[in-house]
Parts: sequence; structure tokens; C-alpha cells
Amino acid sequence: MYYSDTFKQADDETFIMRIPKDEDFRILQLTDLHLGFGLLSKGRDKLALEAVRKIIEISKPHLIVLTGDSIFPFLPRAGTLNNRKQAQKLMEFLDGFEIPYTLVFGNHDCELFSTCGKEELAELYKQGRYCIFTEGRKDLTGVGNFLIELVDDSGKVLLPLVMLDSNMYGEGGWFFSGFDRIRDDQVDWCTQRLNALKREYPDIKAMAFFHMPLREFKEAYEKMKLGDKNVLYRHGSIAEKGEYFGISKFKSTFFDRAAENGVIKWIFCGHDHLNTLSLVYKGIQMTYGMSVDYLGYKNIKNSYIQRGGTLITRGADGNVDITMVPIGAVVSTRVRGVSRR
Ligand SMILES: [Fe+2]
Ligand SMILES: [Fe+2]
Repeated sequence: MYYSDTFKQADDETFIMRIPKDEDFRILQLTDLHLGFGLLSKGRDKLALEAVRKIIEISKPHLIVLTGDSIFPFLPRAGTLNNRKQAQKLMEFLDGFEIPYTLVFGNHDCELFSTCGKEELAELYKQGRYCIFTEGRKDLTGVGNFLIELVDDSGKVLLPLVMLDSNMYGEGGWFFSGFDRIRDDQVDWCTQRLNALKREYPDIKAMAFFHMPLREFKEAYEKMKLGDKNVLYRHGSIAEKGEYFGISKFKSTFFDRAAENGVIKWIFCGHDHLNTLSLVYKGIQMTYGMSVDYLGYKNIKNSYIQRGGTLITRGADGNVDITMVPIGAVVSTRVRGVSRR
């Protein structure tokens, strides 16, 4: 587990990280690394790790958040089912940057037939020198529902980060059952935690990180295309074939409860490797993190404008800026649509 004078674990589901009050705090969201570390993936892994290294170098984050599908124990693509070894290799790599990192699970980290389940991976990740992770409450659905509270010197909470396991596959439990969603018990837990924060800090604003996009993200996109002025476009696009959103066919109560509760202002997801859209709907900015994937989608290597990282900067004034860091931008300055600072 990560250790520092400015960081501690408060309980089984809460971490506290002290951040400087008068400086920017940079969070780098990386998603869908799809690292194989197997017989078939050596060349592609090398490209992915190199891309991550460059994105980290250019964005200089204080904290890295991985939003799922970090590893890919899928035999036909990776040449291994050993996700324990994959997680170990990933940790060794990330620990090398000496920057704290945290993660949520995607639908592929513990793919069907892989060596170990989420509980075992959780035990492993807790051993990472710079890794921030906990299983969270055992009675909740999923593994890894927890909070990281960014606080100032006095302990005042500035920005809570809510980490959620959006689970894997729905009823039936395998790929063809369709994607799962954040379940009601997780929503209840999350709402309770946010309500407690709201009682102490009436103006508190939080971020949520999880793997699967919400159904409401697609709903907002479709409304925006029809000219609905209540949806505000921020950046990016939907570049999956057929404007695909990998959403669950089951409705989760997460978005409605979050909109009603009012504390979560930003949601970051991954899962659809070519979608980079960011928009504001019902007071919540939903953002697809740029993916790194070289292994999951065939021939994705050339989609360099759609892939990369997402830099989230919390300014000293509390304002939040979200910027795409495309892989193309770390090797070329001639990519359009890149905000340069
Ligand atoms: Fe993925
Ligand atoms: Fe995924």
C-alpha cells in the first residue's frame, strides 16, 4: 500500500490524501490499458507501456486513476489466462513512477477462466508500493468500492473521489449476458457517504470513477444531437462503430440518485476504447477517459487521435479542468484539438 506523510487509510473504505491548498492538483485518468503480459502480446504491451510512460511524463500527475480493463487475461489475444502475473507486472511498472495510483475493476480484469478473481487481485494490489486500494465493504456488490478524500492541511475535505466497481456481466455472468451496472446497494452506500459529507460541507463537489458508461450518457448524447440545449458539449466524440455505447441493458439507479443528491459533479468512465466524449447533463459532467489499448481492439494502433489519457486538474480555486492527452500529442504536436498549456 502507498505510504506517505500526507496520506493515510482512515477505515476499510476511506483514504485521506492531503494536498497543497494553493497549487493545482493533477489527476491522470488512464483506462483500458489491456495489458497482456503473455506469449502473444509482447510487442503490443511494449507500445502500451511506452505510451503510458509518455502520457505520465507530459501530464506530470500527482495521482493516477485506472478505470478498469487494466489487464486482459483473454487467451486468444494475450496468450495467457494468468491475471495474477499480469497484475504483478502492471504494479511493478506503475510503482516505478513513484506516483500514487488507484484503480477500479473493469469487465476484463478477471475475465472468465482467468487465474484469479477480484478478491485475490485486491490482495495483490494492496501490496503495491504506490497503490491505493481496498476491497471496501464486504457486504456490497463488487470489489473496490471506496473513497479517497482529498483534504487540505486542516483536514477539510476539498474533493472526494468515489471509486466504484461497475461489475462485469449481467444476469448469467458471462460476456453474452450483456454488461452489468452499479447495483442498488452500491448506490445506497455511495449516497449515504455523500450525504454525510454534505452535512459537514454543504457545497462539497465530488468525482466518481468507474469502468462502464451509464445509460444516461447515451441518452444525453442523443438529446444533444437533437439540439437539446440542456446538454452541454465539452469535448471529444463518439467514434465507436455505429455510435456504440457499451452500456448495460439494465437501468441502474446511480445517475438519477447522483443528480438528485447533487454532490457528484463529474463522472469518469472507460470501456469504449474509441469514445472520448465529455458532456454535461443534469448538472453532471460525464467523460469517457481516453483509452490506451493496443491489444483489445484489432487494428486500434492507428486510432491515435482517439487514444491517450485524460488529465483532470483541480485548481487552487476549486475549479476543475478536464483535458484530453492523445497518444498522438505525445509524439507529435501537430494533432488538432489538443489544448496546449
Ligand atoms: Fe476495455
Ligand atoms: Fe470494458
